[in-house]
Amino acid sequence: MATTRTFPDGFLWGVGTSAYQIEGAVDLDGRGTSVWDTFAATGHVRNDDSGAVAADHRRRMADDVALLAELGIPSYRFSVAWPRVQPDGVGPASPSGLDFYRQLVDELLAHGIEPVVTLYHWDLPQALEDAGGWPERSTAEHFARYAGLVAGAIGDRVTRWTTINEPWCASMLGYAAGIHAPGRTDPAAAVGAAHHLLLAHGLAVDVLRAELPATAEIGITLNPYPVHPLGHSDADRDAARRVDGIANRLWYDPVLRGEYPDDVLDDLRSVSDLRHIRPGDLEQIARPVDALGLNYYRCYHVAHDPGASASPSPWPGSTDVHFAEPASTPTANGWAVEPEGLYDALVRLWRDYDPPPLYAHEIGGAFPDEPDAEGRVIDADRIAFLDAHLQACHDAVATGVDLRGFFVWSYLDNFEWAEGYAHRFGVVHVDFATQQRTPKASALWFADVAATNRLPNGDGPAAAP
Ligand code: FCB
Repeated sequence: MATTRTFPDGFLWGVGTSAYQIEGAVDLDGRGTSVWDTFAATGHVRNDDSGAVAADHRRRMADDVALLAELGIPSYRFSVAWPRVQPDGVGPASPSGLDFYRQLVDELLAHGIEPVVTLYHWDLPQALEDAGGWPERSTAEHFARYAGLVAGAIGDRVTRWTTINEPWCASMLGYAAGIHAPGRTDPAAAVGAAHHLLLAHGLAVDVLRAELPATAEIGITLNPYPVHPLGHSDADRDAARRVDGIANRLWYDPVLRGEYPDDVLDDLRSVSDLRHIRPGDLEQIARPVDALGLNYYRCYHVAHDPGASASPSPWPGSTDVHFAEPASTPTANGWAVEPEGLYDALVRLWRDYDPPPLYAHEIGGAFPDEPDAEGRVIDADRIAFLDAHLQACHDAVATGVDLRGFFVWSYLDNFEWAEGYAHRFGVVHVDFATQQRTPKASALWFADVAATNRLPNGDGPAAAP
């Protein structure tokens, strides 16, 4: 018998993007240089791609919002580019930079689309990196002032706010592994960056609370990775404990409990003296939040492997870990399809942390979408992917998890960081030569799920009851 899975009333359905991945127009609004402009310009991105043009969204914003409305997508998650608002990350705001986000919000609201704002999705002003970047405490203080500028401009019209997106990536990929901007490979710097990103979140919560109406929903967006040991040995289990510590508990525990886990601090002491953690910081980081965003992509399967730590790694203090290749057929960028990990991540948070309401802020996969002879993109693989992850969400809700929304990553094909334009995550295809947008089959499928608030059995459009 076909089962139709209905989501709770008021469930928020949306699609997401981030500024550097779609905006382009790096020369408008007096925008300053970001660490991603520099990273791309210095040969760190596949094919020497950059976000200089990307999906040209800064110029095409009105059309992009109109297309969201035409598709019937109820909510849109986007990020504000810090260097478009404050070119050097300090000082007064650029009026035209703020105007762009005012117009975007007005355009969304005029079309009945709910805006969800992320203040930091990795495009740190280069001037702040030159002054030390996230390993410097002052960067967190600058971020809080920037948050206040954005809140002052659009706070009367935006209810849902995320401070920082995926601080694990920003700190560990950016400062330890060096595969994201700013490309540093200094484990101690990464540990400092992690703390200051958390502190930036906590400081910004206070600023946003002071600036925004009481109805505002303020949170942070983290990226859980369930971690599984490959074998049963104590050494494999310890490898899983350590990776879980840095991937998950390093973020959950300070934000939701006001403490760092002792075992994680012990691991991190092998690379850092931890002197950047000052009295009162954890209290600041643990300011109550109204929502927690989760971006889930996959699990890690790990084993103890002496000698596996030759190159810079995003797991400071966690040496000798081997990461297994996915057992299932990977998506186009090599990530496995593991929807059960989403269920596990949601249930673990609910069971262990007593979190605020949860939102799946990014769920999506890269597939080799190409338009067919008629110009259509029939991405049945992405529909199956989203369907499986939505089933996992529905199961989690049935278990008791207070999950309030689901956002597909991504609205548009875009600049996928160090991978450039090699992988397509959008439910709308972008021809980067012409900037033509073509909704893929998944966009129509998802819009139907959103409109009916339920998931059909099978991968066709949602059926009538
Ligand atoms: C997440 C990022 C997002 C996108 C997806 C594929 O980690 O938040 O910008 O790159 O991965």
